[in-house]
Amino acid sequence: MKKNILLCVTGGIACYKAASLTSKLIQSDYSVKVIMTESAMNFVSPLTFQALSRNEVYTDTFIENNPEVIAHIDLADWADLCLVAPATANMIGKLANGLADDMVSTTLLATTAPVWIAPAMNVHMYDHPAVQKNINTLYQFGHRFIEPGEGYLACGYVGKGRLEEPETIAELIHQHFSEPAQPLKGKNVLITAGPTKERIDPVRFLTNHSSGKMGYALAEEAAKMGGNVTLISGPSTLPSPLGVKVIFVESAAQMYDQVLHHFPKADIVIKSAAVADYRPKHVSQQKLKKKDGNLTLELERTKDILLELGKRKKQQFLVGFAAETENIEEHALSKLNRKNADMIIANDITAEGAGFAADTNIVTIFQKKHPPKTLPLLSKSETARKIMEEIIQNMVGES
Ligand SMILES: Cc1cc2nc3c(=O)[nH]c(=O)nc-3n(C[C@H](O)[C@H](O)[C@H](O)COP(=O)(O)O)c2cc1C
Repeated sequence: MKKNILLCVTGGIACYKAASLTSKLIQSDYSVKVIMTESAMNFVSPLTFQALSRNEVYTDTFIENNPEVIAHIDLADWADLCLVAPATANMIGKLANGLADDMVSTTLLATTAPVWIAPAMNVHMYDHPAVQKNINTLYQFGHRFIEPGEGYLACGYVGKGRLEEPETIAELIHQHFSEPAQPLKGKNVLITAGPTKERIDPVRFLTNHSSGKMGYALAEEAAKMGGNVTLISGPSTLPSPLGVKVIFVESAAQMYDQVLHHFPKADIVIKSAAVADYRPKHVSQQKLKKKDGNLTLELERTKDILLELGKRKKQQFLVGFAAETENIEEHALSKLNRKNADMIIANDITAEGAGFAADTNIVTIFQKKHPPKTLPLLSKSETARKIMEEIIQNMVGES
């Protein structure tokens, strides 16, 4: 059965790429219908999209050519996938705020199909906090973004803001409609991510550089593989991964409580959070005042979550992370044994491309019965996918 793509074209220079995308989708045997905003028609004529899609092009909510249906509801129901490409800052703002004052925004508010957004704009527009806030809101609604690429922009700037190439967008659409492998269907996956914050007084705390990116990437990949994923996250500004239940905590003690609460039902547990090993022994209820001389802060041990899970482990496949600065193999193997874990993912956080806030990582996977496996420098998403594949392979091996 042909899949129906509703392509929403909004007013940017990259409209010409939407024409090429339409042609590629038609050649790949999709049905394509196009809605254009008034601004988009300043860049490309509706006739171009009509000819390429071999369908009527919709430009005005109040032009109702077929009296048997209401066009925007009919289109909203017809679509298997809605794609806004290029998506202007203006349209992103409208969608984030539930506005419906043109054919694109009205139809997208009425659809229950997945909505994908491919932004294209000047780099400063893209970086503007208002645009970023709107993007974040749309992420929370479950909309998916096709991130703009970096490069020469039509406005003369070089930076992030180029509409992704039509070939790549078409490939993402093919992947979406091809049957995804769901090896984690029916499995409960518990993942921790991010730093913890340990309070000293009402204004100060101890924390670390963890961004949460690795744990969030793992949660996203596990969800794509069909897992029922719960992510327990320390403070993080990252958008929640699609289809993942996120529980936010602040301190190591809260992380401990939440992890132990969810542990009994979990099939896979991945502890990628950078949990504080120590916390202030006394938390001052009032702000500590500056005095002459040094201040000594007494720290006490927090509870070791991985150790506790290792003791309670039954059906769970238990994975820990080791962020090291030296003797990686020795520390990872020792952690594997001491904590009764099934796998330790170790990385040298001093290596280039492997730091806390980086988008890439270089990890080595340690397991009791297998030799260590080092993955090359990869994006955190690719690293996450390979780690999940390794876990799945070894879970099968265990049973
Ligand atoms: C030459 C030109 C190029 C533009 N390119 C973009 C663009 O790439 N991205 C964007 O967000 N807005 C761009 N704009 C501004 C939008 O067209 C404008 O914000 C408009 O209101 C968007 O309307 P729409 O979202 O209904 O299509 C451009 C405007 C002009 C005149």
